[in-house]
Amino acid sequence: MSAYNNIFGTPSEVLSGLAASSLVHGEALSTLKSLPAESVDCIITSPPYWKQREYEVSEYHSSLELGNEDQPQQYVAKLAAIFHAAKRILKPSGSLWLNIGDKYHNKNLMGMPWRVALAMQDDGWILRNDIIWDQMKGTQSPKDRLRDVYEHIFHFVKSQKYYYDSDSIRIKPDKLPSENGNGIVSATGVSGVKYKQQIAESKVLSEMEKQKALEALEETLGRLRNGELVDFRMTIRGAQRTYHGENGNISGRAKELEERGFFIMKSSAKGYIPSDIWRIVPEDKWRKDTHCAVFPEELLLNPIKATCPNHGIILDPFVGTGSSVAAALRMQRRAVGIDLSEVYLATARKRISEMAERLNTLPLLF
Ligand SMILES: C[S@@+](CC[C@H](N)C(=O)[O-])C[C@H]1O[C@@H](n2cnc3c(N)ncnc32)[C@H](O)[C@@H]1O
Repeated sequence: MSAYNNIFGTPSEVLSGLAASSLVHGEALSTLKSLPAESVDCIITSPPYWKQREYEVSEYHSSLELGNEDQPQQYVAKLAAIFHAAKRILKPSGSLWLNIGDKYHNKNLMGMPWRVALAMQDDGWILRNDIIWDQMKGTQSPKDRLRDVYEHIFHFVKSQKYYYDSDSIRIKPDKLPSENGNGIVSATGVSGVKYKQQIAESKVLSEMEKQKALEALEETLGRLRNGELVDFRMTIRGAQRTYHGENGNISGRAKELEERGFFIMKSSAKGYIPSDIWRIVPEDKWRKDTHCAVFPEELLLNPIKATCPNHGIILDPFVGTGSSVAAALRMQRRAVGIDLSEVYLATARKRISEMAERLNTLPLLF
């Protein structure tokens, strides 16, 4: 029988492997202070934005709710204190992903995400990426400014060396090289024959440069044959049109072309690393009956894959409807979520139980 026999348990049951997840009804700062140091691998969260929304917290808790502060500085200070407490709980190899939205106040765009990010840097966090989440929203029509369509997702770490599985998030090539009787051709049909001819017939390359260019081309074709590369393009001095300005500010490739007479651009079979602009439509299934900005699960895939090892532990101190916990379980990680609102936690519990049922009992996942 699997160790994670229970879907829900206490945080310490999650940490010791007796439960897969825990949904804690409580305030973020005080709950974080009660958790053990260096116990989670990855924090993913989206706090309430400043003066943006009203969440369904009970009367009793409403004074603890974040986002209602009069001044932006008060909001920033509170959040920085919460993430300071979260830093203690994060393992030295851990990551924190923070999604946060901005706010116009008296027509003035407040720059809230960066205010928070700078306060966290001042507190010792290392900022590794500022991801622009392009939400592709189309409905607002302001009369005196442009539509806003993005939010920030900041990736912070605690130390210079941290867990990051970059291979797990590479975008894999959709076409592979093939054989065509005469040898290998790249994913887009490049065999190298034309380049060999251009090198041989070149009037601008020296004999030495020709030899080096042919060797490099053979080496590239070898890597294509053994599956390391899927594609390549060769640029040979005098043979291909190149586009670089006359301003003396020569790029690395142009310099290579000038000095060696050629360069080769290669596409690795491992795929390429995603960029820091993510185009993901916001979730609408779980927010129908709430006012809460719900994470689309797609948004959570890369943070979890890259920065939480298999069977590792994820923490979300503003878990809302439980998106981060659901995504963690789906990806065979354990998770602890905290929220002030019982209403949202009830939605989270229902959502996660339904998911576990759909996936034919959660323990089988692990
Ligand atoms: C933007 S929502 C999070 C949504 C979540 N990412 C999801 O996918 O459903 C922010 C959440 O923070 C909660 N909240 C507000 N103040 C809090 C506090 N001081 N401590 C813990 N949770 C709080 C709200 O109840 C709300 O559920």
